[in-house]
Amino acid sequence: MAGARGNWNSSFGFVMAAVGSAVGLGNLVRFPKELANNGGAAFLFVYLILLVLVGLPAILGEMSLGKITQMSPVNAFRKLAEGGGKSWGYVGVAGMIAATLVMFYYAVMTGWTLNFFVGTFYDGWYDDPTGFHGKIAHGPWAILFLAIVMTVTLYVVSRGVSGGIEKVTSIIMPALFGIVFLMVIYALFQPGMGAGYARIFKPDFGALTPQNISAATGQVFFSMSLGQGAMLTYASYMEKKQSVAINGTTIALADTGVALLAAMMIFPTLAFTGLLTQYGDAGTFGMAFEAMPTAFVSMGPVAGRLLGGIFFLGLFFAAFSSAISLLEVPVSVVVDNLGVVRQKAALIVGGIVYIFAVVSAVNEYWFELFDLIAVNVFIVVGVAVTTVFAGWFAKGIAKELDSGLKSRIGIYLVWMMRTITPVLILVTFLFGGLWGTGIDGGYEFFSSGDAEHNGEAGFHQLYRIFMEAIGQWDHA
Ligand code: PHE
Repeated sequence: MAGARGNWNSSFGFVMAAVGSAVGLGNLVRFPKELANNGGAAFLFVYLILLVLVGLPAILGEMSLGKITQMSPVNAFRKLAEGGGKSWGYVGVAGMIAATLVMFYYAVMTGWTLNFFVGTFYDGWYDDPTGFHGKIAHGPWAILFLAIVMTVTLYVVSRGVSGGIEKVTSIIMPALFGIVFLMVIYALFQPGMGAGYARIFKPDFGALTPQNISAATGQVFFSMSLGQGAMLTYASYMEKKQSVAINGTTIALADTGVALLAAMMIFPTLAFTGLLTQYGDAGTFGMAFEAMPTAFVSMGPVAGRLLGGIFFLGLFFAAFSSAISLLEVPVSVVVDNLGVVRQKAALIVGGIVYIFAVVSAVNEYWFELFDLIAVNVFIVVGVAVTTVFAGWFAKGIAKELDSGLKSRIGIYLVWMMRTITPVLILVTFLFGGLWGTGIDGGYEFFSSGDAEHNGEAGFHQLYRIFMEAIGQWDHA
């Protein structure tokens, strides 16, 4: 039934939109940092295993639910449940809540990237590479750029699937790939870049802890936009003849490929500008918004502004196309379940998101709390339940995965969704959430980590940030 809800115009358009959702700040900054700090090639090895055993079955299961039903998350779960179990719809509701929660802070970060790009022209970061982010991260600047980002995102989503989302992502995603390639190649020819490659690729299996493995699982989910109905919703606009297996695999490979290229862009750049020792251990924001601007400034006014400008434009494109997909999830549910027209739905949902996002634009603890609840609770549980649903309870998944292919892979993938994928999710979830490393380095239940919270158990972190957000944490 093409038409009423909209369809992608082409396979290319769909893949660009879906890769646009997947490729975001998670790939461009978070992955490189995790790779460098958690054992280099050792982390990559674990990441790739998790990608195949967990990420791939999960994305193919989620996409199949959307493609088969051509419905948004809530209705898709209801329709595919054997015997019509209505309560499965709540999984879709949870996914929608997760996407909305992520939007509460992701939209603020998207605003930062835009502010950095604009700051190239008025010398915002160029004058103050390490202090600019502090100035704009929370407060009036953050609220202003959040407003710009929300307005544009809401406009694109209100224009519909092929008329808005596909048009925009078909332009900005190729541009983003070009930017990343250019910067990888530029870094490759600078003397002194080698230490950067060593930092990301030298395997250190000793650096791998169960905590890192659980972090890798979280990274796979967040990076592939899973557990929030985003891939389900985008797949629901696929044409019948398009293959879930081929497109889903393409999306997974492109997502990982860009993450690796991003690491080959950031670390060699820090190395050839002589900043690797100082900034090699920076956190995600420190890496993107302090270390990189400092590197650009050290390249001098022309090259620095030029490369810095395109780097931040790339970050903005990546974040923006992800934000579009996040907003599309609740909008599609409001359109399908409440019968509201798309333009109005985008305005209502966008308005609500803006109000809550202002809270994280002002208060960094709420910002972090939205992130932790979404990532450590909703997304993990969402992916696990969605995968179990696709494997055990939904009708027609194996057949959908075989369609358009010569060989039968559907039953193997469904078998993975039934067994190994949810088991691995559960194990890594429990390890990372409940255990951490104590000061003495041993495993500790509900560990609070060291003074800097390193090694803190995931659920302890959630508890601490919640207490901080409501002003009840004793900063001794
Ligand atoms: N995948 C995006 C990133 O890596 C984030 C995202 C999550 C986007 C969920 C949409 C849905 O930054």
